Amino acid sequence: MAIQEDKLNAFMGNFVHDIGAVMHAATVVVGDQLGLYKELAKGGGTAEELARRTDTDARYLREWLSAQAASGYVGYEPATGRFAMDEEQVFALAEEGSPAFIPGAFQIAVDQFKTIPKMMQAMRTGLGLGWHEHDAALFHGTERFFRPGYAANLVGNWIPALDSVERTLKDGASVADVGCGHGASTVLMAQAYPASTFVGYDYHGASIDHARQAAEAAGLDAKRVRFEVARAQDFPGGDYDLVAVFDCLHDMGDPVGAAAHVRRSLKPEGTWMIVEPFANDKLEDNINPVGRVFYSASTFICTPASRAQDGAACLGAQAGEARTRDVVSQGGFTHFRRAAQTPFNLVYEARP
Ligand SMILES: C[S@@+](CC[C@H](N)C(=O)[O-])C[C@H]1O[C@@H](n2cnc3c(N)ncnc32)[C@H](O)[C@@H]1O
Repeated sequence: MAIQEDKLNAFMGNFVHDIGAVMHAATVVVGDQLGLYKELAKGGGTAEELARRTDTDARYLREWLSAQAASGYVGYEPATGRFAMDEEQVFALAEEGSPAFIPGAFQIAVDQFKTIPKMMQAMRTGLGLGWHEHDAALFHGTERFFRPGYAANLVGNWIPALDSVERTLKDGASVADVGCGHGASTVLMAQAYPASTFVGYDYHGASIDHARQAAEAAGLDAKRVRFEVARAQDFPGGDYDLVAVFDCLHDMGDPVGAAAHVRRSLKPEGTWMIVEPFANDKLEDNINPVGRVFYSASTFICTPASRAQDGAACLGAQAGEARTRDVVSQGGFTHFRRAAQTPFNLVYEARP
């Protein structure tokens, strides 16, 4: 065996970067949950001042602040011993509604670590692991990580990119948001299109309870926006102008069955909006930082979620356009196109 020293050094350099990120992730979750970033956003200070303001132990806080400084999440001034966040750090770490808000992603990682024993079992047996079998950190983290992207793109870019859908929604349409989770997308659409009615469906009862609370907290009329427990392959209702699925088609065991049911539930001129994680068709074209995030999440979350359902299609979070098109056409749709994209999402339009 001939180890090439430069290749090994490069690999170990990457490793230091990776293990630093992994260890740092837990400190981000703590900072988020204790409100430390939000307090720092109000103004910097020494560890002792910040400990008083956040009602935390000063020695622990100094270590946490040092970890943040070493990771570039908080700035440090050696001359004064003060820690502070710049505008960009505040935008990404402390502003819940900002399009760059990232702490939710770290909650998803918490779930992945808690899921290790179940995942080892699943990998040995080939059995599935349902979405509902995960830690609540996944449900909250998904909502908090995805909502900023939806807030930044859904109403401003994605819906206008679909043929005539924006007009229909403004005039008053009937919309189903299938696999809606905590309902972030449903609430955003309901706020933007007050003449339309919305129903969010998800098979996970706890998520539907949460979505109902979110709609109530947003002051939405329960007659216009409601949430029901139902599966994508047999949700109730029909004559929808728009059916939307956000980041869940690839999680389903029977995405073709879901596609066929969506088709039956739409008006003849209705639209199916499919939002999926950004992916190229081939693995070799997804070997990049975004693909790394999605393949890792897909190993622990999406692929076993599909395996746990009838059909067990296991599309994976990096299904890509060709496989999605195939599912949609097998479901009976004759029109399919990519309507929009961001670094994290692909948005497709399908019509009966
Ligand atoms: C990654 S989450 C996305 C949630 C939400 N759409 C969002 O973008 O925030 C996937 C969701 O799909 C739901 N789901 C998975 N399979 C489903 C099925 N067959 N029918 C209905 N919901 C399903 C899960 O319960 C989960 O809430």
